[in-house]
Amino acid sequence: MTNSNRPRLFVTGSTGALGRLVITELLKRVPASSIVAGVRSLDHDVAKQIAAHGVELRIADYSRPDTLLAAFAGIDRLLLISSSAQRDRVSQHQNVIEAAKAAGVGLFAYTSLLHADTSPLGLGEDHLRTEALLKASGLPVVLLRHGWYMENHMAAVPPALHHGAVIGSAGEGRFSTATRADFAESAAIVLSTEGHAGRIYELAGDQSYSLADVADAIAASAGKPIVYKDMPGAVFKNALIGMGLPESVAELIADSDVAASKGALEDNGRQLSALIGRPTADYRQVVEQTVRGGSVHEGGGDF
Ligand SMILES: NC(=O)c1ccc[n+]([C@@H]2O[C@H](COP(=O)([O-])OP(=O)(O)OC[C@H]3O[C@@H](n4cnc5c(N)ncnc54)[C@H](OP(=O)(O)O)[C@@H]3O)[C@@H](O)[C@H]2O)c1
Repeated sequence: MTNSNRPRLFVTGSTGALGRLVITELLKRVPASSIVAGVRSLDHDVAKQIAAHGVELRIADYSRPDTLLAAFAGIDRLLLISSSAQRDRVSQHQNVIEAAKAAGVGLFAYTSLLHADTSPLGLGEDHLRTEALLKASGLPVVLLRHGWYMENHMAAVPPALHHGAVIGSAGEGRFSTATRADFAESAAIVLSTEGHAGRIYELAGDQSYSLADVADAIAASAGKPIVYKDMPGAVFKNALIGMGLPESVAELIADSDVAASKGALEDNGRQLSALIGRPTADYRQVVEQTVRGGSVHEGGGDF
């Protein structure tokens, strides 16, 4: 604990799109002196902006256990934002878990995947393995199982405006998405309030929509016809590669769409809005903002 008896809160990946929003939300709730931001480089522009708010920076690289041990000294509650690495993700997470255990962290929060224990999404495997490591660690754990980020679908806006179509493989499957800002707020609440150890939160947006609904929302905002074109996963994957995405990323997106066609990314439990105490962001408004050239990332944070 700090001198003021407040728990010291640590956020990994603080320079990332989600991490910086968590720091923003924490700064609304606790003094800067009780927050520690994990970064890979002190020279990162976002790291410097975070430090300017009086938040301590510490180097915490998932691939360098020595940095993690030093970083977690004196930390009471830690949020591990899942690694963005394509490979060795679970061993990176294992390094973080072991260092947290060695440092005697009192609460370990992890950003997992919605219904990770039953999810057919290919990327669920790493999350489930990480959850198993956490269980075996004996640490007090809270799982923040995230549904799809609404921003994933906003990437479809520019090509849809250009080609008049949203493409995908989700069929009529529905997505209960939320913005990173909403997920970040829930993480900040969990870190800064009591009573979350042992909980599993299935976090998803209040609304669910299909990709045809996304096409309709873009059409309404842009004032021109936009259709949804469904296609087999392999065809969608090739189209994404054609747009310049790396094959592994295209594979992941196509696989997730196919899983969504079977309902894997729909959730009507409203646990996210219950945690943040307000409705989650409305997708039509976010589409409108995106069509007008705004960014939901920039809209939600200070950094
Ligand atoms: N549910 C969804 O729809 C969805 C969508 C996207 C991502 N995600 C997951 O959510 C996570 C956060 O998303 P995001 O949008 O914030 O991703 P992001 O903007 O790419 O940020 C990733 C963060 O992780 C840090 N990082 C990467 N490798 C690291 C390592 N070896 N050690 C320490 N830090 C490392 C990055 O540091 P640097 O700034 O130094 O690179 C960055 O701060 C992603 O990593 C991914 O697992 C989920």
